Amino acid sequence: MDARETALRQAYGHAVRWLASLSDRGVPARASVEEIVRALSAELPDGPSAPVDVVDLLATACEPGLTAFPSGRFYGFVVGGTEPAALAADWLVSAWDQNCVMRAASPAYAAVEEVAGAWLLNFLGLPGNSAVGFTTGATMANFTCLAAGRDAVLRRTGWNVARDGLTGGPGVRVLAGEDRHMAVDLALRYLGLGRPELVRADGQGRIDPEALRHALAAGGPAPTIVVLQAGDIHSGAFDPFAAAIRAAREADAWVHIDGAFGLWAAASPAYAHLTAGCADADSWATDAHKTLNVPYDCGLAVVRDPLAVRAAMGLRGDYLIQDEQGDPIDKVPELSRRGRAFTVWAALRALGRSGVADLVERLCRHASAFATGIAEIDGATVLNEVVFTQVCAEFGSDERTERVLTRLLDDGTAWISGSTWRGRRVMRISVSNWSTTDDDVARTLDAIRRASAGA
Ligand SMILES: Cc1ncc(COP(=O)(O)O)c(C=O)c1O
Repeated sequence: MDARETALRQAYGHAVRWLASLSDRGVPARASVEEIVRALSAELPDGPSAPVDVVDLLATACEPGLTAFPSGRFYGFVVGGTEPAALAADWLVSAWDQNCVMRAASPAYAAVEEVAGAWLLNFLGLPGNSAVGFTTGATMANFTCLAAGRDAVLRRTGWNVARDGLTGGPGVRVLAGEDRHMAVDLALRYLGLGRPELVRADGQGRIDPEALRHALAAGGPAPTIVVLQAGDIHSGAFDPFAAAIRAAREADAWVHIDGAFGLWAAASPAYAHLTAGCADADSWATDAHKTLNVPYDCGLAVVRDPLAVRAAMGLRGDYLIQDEQGDPIDKVPELSRRGRAFTVWAALRALGRSGVADLVERLCRHASAFATGIAEIDGATVLNEVVFTQVCAEFGSDERTERVLTRLLDDGTAWISGSTWRGRRVMRISVSNWSTTDDDVARTLDAIRRASAGA
C-alpha cells in the first residue's frame, strides 16, 4: 500500500467509528476550542509527517470537539444529515478531484450535473428548461438568483450592469416579507442593493399579498424584485405564492423564492400543496445539504431563463475551453469548485421519487410528533401551526424556556437551539435529518420532559 492508500484506510476507520457512535453518543461536543487546540499541538513541525499519522492525529484530537450534527437527534438550525450514497459519493468527489468549471474539462461532471439538474426540476415541479447551478449553500444560491434578477430588471430599462455597474443607474426596489431569512439580506448586501423594503406578514410569517400589492403600487414604476419564502425558519410556513406572484406580475417584478429547506415540500404528494404557485416565479434558491441530506456544501440556484443567469454569472477566458451551449461555470459565482452535483445525483438515485417523498413526509411526521408530545408537557405551549418540519414552543416564561434549553443541552441526549420569535424566547425544533427515527423522537421528548420537570 502506498502512503495515500494507508491514509485513506485510516480515515475510513475513523469515519466508520464516528458514524457508528452517532446512535448513542451525546449530541453536543464534549471539548472546547482551547482543548482541541492543545490536543492538536499547535506547533507546525519543521519537516514532513506520514499522512497516516496526520489523519490519526486529526481524528483523535478532534473527536471530543465534534458536535453530532449527523445524529438523528440534532434539531438545531436546519442542517440535514448525510444520506449514505451521497456521503460515499462525496469521498469519490475528493478522490476524483475534478475541477467542475467546463464541460470539456470534465465531461463526467457536466453529464452528472445535467442529469441531476433535470431530476431536481422534475422533483421540485419547476420549469423543465431552467438553469440549475450548484453553489455552496442557499445564501449563495439566493445571491446567484438575485444577481440574475437584478441584471434582468435593469436590462429592461436599458441599463447594462455587467458593463456599467450600478453607479448612476436606476434604483432597484426589492420587496420581501418581514419574516424572510437573513441570508436574503446578506445576498442583497453583496449585490449592492441594500436592505429590502419589508412587507407585512401574518402571525406565521406568511407575506400578506394585499400589503405587497399596495407597497408595489405605492412606489411607482421602477425595476423591482419581489422575494418570497418557502419555509419560515421558525414556523415552517409558506408564502401564498399564487396571490403574491399575481401582485408582483402586475408590477412587472422579478419574483424570487428562497426555499432553502421548504422547496422540497414539492417532492411529496402530501405536502406539495404548500408550494402551489411556486413554479410561476423567475428564480428559486434551495439547499441540497438540508432536506435532501447531502454532505456540506451544496446549494441550488435555479433560474427560469438560462440566459439571465448566464448574463450575470458567465465569463469568458482565453485559456478556457468553453462550450457554446453554456458550461457549469455560467450558472454560479465561483470558478474552481468541487463536484457538488455528484453527491446530489447519488442521493436522488438512491432515494428515487418515492424515497424523496418518504423523506419529506417522515421529517414532517416527526415534527408533528414533537408538537403533540411537547403540548402535553405541563406549562408548555406550541406556538406555531406545524405545517412542515419546524416547531416552536415556549415553557410558560422566557426565563423558564431558557432554563429548559440549558438543561436539555446539559443532558446531551439531543441538540435543540433556542430563538426569539414574536418577542418570546422559544425552543425551536427543526427536523431535517434522514436518519431520525421514532425512537430518536421518543428519547428526545423524554429528555425535554426531564429538562422541564426541574426547570
Ligand atoms: C430559509 C433559509 N434561507 C437561507 C438559508 C441559508 O442557507 P445556507 O446556510 O445554506 O447558506 C437558510 C438556512 O437555514 C434558510 O433556512
